[in-house]
Amino acid sequence: MPPLRLLLALLLLLGCASAQSPSAEQRCFCQVTGHLDDCTCDVETIDSYNNYKIFPSLQKLLENDYFRYYKVNLKKPCPFWSDSSHCGIRDCAVKPCPSDEVPGGIRSESYKYSREAATFVEDCEEAERLGAVDESLSKETAEAVLRWTRHDDSSDSFCEVDDIQSPEAEYVDLLLNPERYTGYKGPEAWKIWNSIYEENCFKPQSIKRPLNPLASGRAAAAGENEGNMFYSWLQGLCVEKRAFYKLISGLHASINIHLSARYLLRDTWAEKQWGHNVTEFQQRFDEVLTQGEGPRRLKNLYFIYLIELRALSKVLPFFDRPDFQLFTGDKRRDEETKSLLLEILHLTKAFPLHLDENSFFAGNPREAAKLKEEFRHHFRNISRIMDCVGCFKCRLWGKLQTQGLGTALKILFSESLIENMPERGPSHKFHLTRQEIVSLFNAFGRISTSVKELENFRDLLRPLQ
Ligand SMILES: *[C@@H]1O[C@H](CO)[C@@H](O)[C@H](O)[C@H]1NC(C)=O
Ligand SMILES: *[C@@H]1O[C@H](CO)[C@@H](O)[C@H](O)[C@H]1NC(C)=O
Repeated sequence: MPPLRLLLALLLLLGCASAQSPSAEQRCFCQVTGHLDDCTCDVETIDSYNNYKIFPSLQKLLENDYFRYYKVNLKKPCPFWSDSSHCGIRDCAVKPCPSDEVPGGIRSESYKYSREAATFVEDCEEAERLGAVDESLSKETAEAVLRWTRHDDSSDSFCEVDDIQSPEAEYVDLLLNPERYTGYKGPEAWKIWNSIYEENCFKPQSIKRPLNPLASGRAAAAGENEGNMFYSWLQGLCVEKRAFYKLISGLHASINIHLSARYLLRDTWAEKQWGHNVTEFQQRFDEVLTQGEGPRRLKNLYFIYLIELRALSKVLPFFDRPDFQLFTGDKRRDEETKSLLLEILHLTKAFPLHLDENSFFAGNPREAAKLKEEFRHHFRNISRIMDCVGCFKCRLWGKLQTQGLGTALKILFSESLIENMPERGPSHKFHLTRQEIVSLFNAFGRISTSVKELENFRDLLRPLQ
């Protein structure tokens, strides 16, 4: 390690952990404890509530047919840049990416990712293979799916998403396509996150995002300064815009936890073995290796958790109506699924430390409405960026999770829900499509799994007694 980086590493160590030489565990989790910013909740409460109550029931729910099939158009072209020059899409399956298509900023010197960047070209075919989406559906399922579609069409839905009507949209079995390591990382993945953070998070160009792998030619020492500037900028933002950034960062953290927890550990002709890769986890979240960024990202995971949890607790009356069904065609199973769903929603309602969404968009009504529109606009744009994700499996989960988060936000900030639902009984003005419902619960399932996985990584990092 060059002396400068070593010094920086030492400074960071002193900054966070209390012990003189913090353990590997502390170095990832030092910020993930106690109170969270912008809400009244603490990490430990969420951990035990999630890991022992929500997580097990939610997993069971998501195995049901209703939640298992998600319709998605993975063939939409990227609206922002031409994807032909990128690895991981069709072309990549037949020939590897020429090295001159790797963005120049990546090849920057002592940066920790530069080794990955160098092996990027070879990884490309591998990523394509691992990232392929399994499209198989049994004949019975295909028929049932047809019936659901008719059922959805006949409902009083007024927010149909065009995409779903497209002949290119197809059902995908989410259980056959788990979110896990695909080999899709490095420059191409950075480009997606970069456009999200740089162009869609209210951030002026003059403020540099710390640890941006696409920022070329920067010295390690600049990192700390950028971090200071960035966080004082973030602190100065209004609570809504800060929340927006934290949601994106939390989603990003969750995806990275999944990749580390379902890492491809063994790949032989006889078997593939997926499991925890502690080194990968540390590279993404260790305080020293990430110049302090990792622990902050983990903290944002809890923020997105609270937002989605609050949305679920609020939407209970919509699902509680006697005429609401989770229709798959199997009446008995559908009823069972619905009662499990309601059980979970009651559990979310019982959570004692919900954040208060009324503190968002609360100021001057005209300003608030404008801000809300901007918020929505940015979020919609981010969902479009998902069509630029090269690896199909990552695109699938990216689209699903943004739609799920979007649905959570729709619930939290929907006027018709707020005005009409409480006590007096649910309004029929508020509606969720099957797609919205499936994405909402599966997205929350991902975040809940990530919180649970943190416990596993904590154990793996704990020194043996
Ligand atoms: C949408 O995102 C793209 C890609 O980051 C960006 O170039 C564009 O400016 C964004 N559009 C709006 C209206 O925010
Ligand atoms: C775990 O991840 C590291 C860093 O990404 C990688 O170098 C290593 O090969 C992985 N370990 C296994 C067993 O795959």
